[in-house]
Amino acid sequence: MSRFYVTTPIFYVNDAPHIGHAYVTLAADALARWHRLLGDEVFFLTGTDEHGKKVAQAAVTRQATPQQWADVMSEHFKQAWKLLDISNDDFIRTTEARHYKTVQSFLQAIYDNGYIELAPYEGRYCVSCETYYTEEELLAGNCPVHLQPVGTMKEENYFFKLSSMSERLLEWYENSPTAVLPESKRNEALSFIKGGLQDFSITRTSIDWGVPVPWDSQHVFYVWADALVNYLTAISYGTNSNDFQKWWPYVNHLIGKEIIRFHCVWWPAMCMAAGIDPPNQLFVHGWLLVGGEKMSKTKLNQISPVALVDDFGVDAVRYYLLRGVPLGADGDFSYEGMLSRYNSDLANNLGNLLSRVTRLVTDKCFGVGHSFDVGHVRLVEGVDKAVELCQSAWNEFAPHRALDAVWELIGEANAVLESEEPWKMPPGSALDKVLGDQLEVLRILALLVWPVMPKASNEIWRRIGVDGLIKDARLPKDAVWGSYDLDFKVEAAGPLFPRRKL
Ligand code: MSP
Repeated sequence: MSRFYVTTPIFYVNDAPHIGHAYVTLAADALARWHRLLGDEVFFLTGTDEHGKKVAQAAVTRQATPQQWADVMSEHFKQAWKLLDISNDDFIRTTEARHYKTVQSFLQAIYDNGYIELAPYEGRYCVSCETYYTEEELLAGNCPVHLQPVGTMKEENYFFKLSSMSERLLEWYENSPTAVLPESKRNEALSFIKGGLQDFSITRTSIDWGVPVPWDSQHVFYVWADALVNYLTAISYGTNSNDFQKWWPYVNHLIGKEIIRFHCVWWPAMCMAAGIDPPNQLFVHGWLLVGGEKMSKTKLNQISPVALVDDFGVDAVRYYLLRGVPLGADGDFSYEGMLSRYNSDLANNLGNLLSRVTRLVTDKCFGVGHSFDVGHVRLVEGVDKAVELCQSAWNEFAPHRALDAVWELIGEANAVLESEEPWKMPPGSALDKVLGDQLEVLRILALLVWPVMPKASNEIWRRIGVDGLIKDARLPKDAVWGSYDLDFKVEAAGPLFPRRKL
């Protein structure tokens, strides 16, 4: 049995959850569910990032304390993830006592190892990013991410001596060619390191909304130095070495492309400086764009996952986000795109297959479907191919490819149905065989699509009469043709995905 520790970035609570946040969380969820089906021991972590200037400012504009504001907003994320069927094992909040403890002991270890020093600092600072930028990094004097003016900030800070870590980081990249994926993002991080690393400030005196620095009470830790450590807090760094050693460094961090520098340069360097291994793997995904632009509060183009779920249902939202935008690339979100995939892939291809097969079994076979050890050759081969393609797709962080493979199988099943025309056949063993093969395909494809559409998959199993829940099934054994030697008690119900109009 393998272990699979997967994380999302923790989300700032200055803002309500939008589908960009949902996108990475769904990808992590689907990966976690796939690994659970494989029988792996899984730990899936997400949470909220609650300190820093940005959150403190957002609280002030709402006449709340930062803690009150964080409590309300963190709850919004929890509720949104519940609605989206996110199966996280833990939800970390950076304002929790356990996190304060871990941040303090982790950064104390770095300090004790000599990688932190006090120095004056003045620089151009973007509050939205919570980071300093060099003049060269600014775009026409503006923040390169938010395209808005940056201020000047002056402080005496503790600095993490990143400049002393270049050699070790380059060696790590050299020795672990798949630590950062995809390759284009690995190259981006590498060129950042090769371009020369500067020490960065890890404390602030200008605000008090943060974790106090244990060796100097005038300072709190800078929000990024605090936030990255969440990945260690949840696995008991410094408090339970069994737990920690079980999961670290065997982690897969999923992150958006705008936070490469923090995760692929700062974070491994901080781990090395504290005397622990850097993370095993970081997978960088692109952005969901709306009208060609990244969603952001300033552009007022954020789409709430809650509104979409109201409209389309949870599984359709999960499906569209994971099929429509390959993890790694940028992709446009549009209502029209979602509607069109909903009608073609879900209502037509999958929904019709299920309706036609269950209706035929109830109308012509007294609602009992039979399984046969030897299936139709095109369908058996289709299943084998889909299982194999799903396995490689999930291994390579490519949910869209896993879904492509399942929809190819659905296409094959619909094509076989068309050519065999069971609606013209009289009741009897030939008809039982044709429909039994289709039920077997439905059983297996529901299993394969469960990581992305858990509710619909379980409903397919229920309607075709398979006992139990898919979460208790195991791959690959339960995806073997004929592994359920049962008579299916089939129910024909309304459309799984009713067709929709604009
Ligand atoms: N709090 C930091 C992360 C700290 S992790 C130690 C942060 N938070 S964030 O809320 O601004 O964004 C977190 C992540 O949300 C991004 O890295 C990305 O995974 C996801 N997304 C936010 N907007 C997005 C899109 N428009 N599209 C896709 N993902 C996006 O950065």
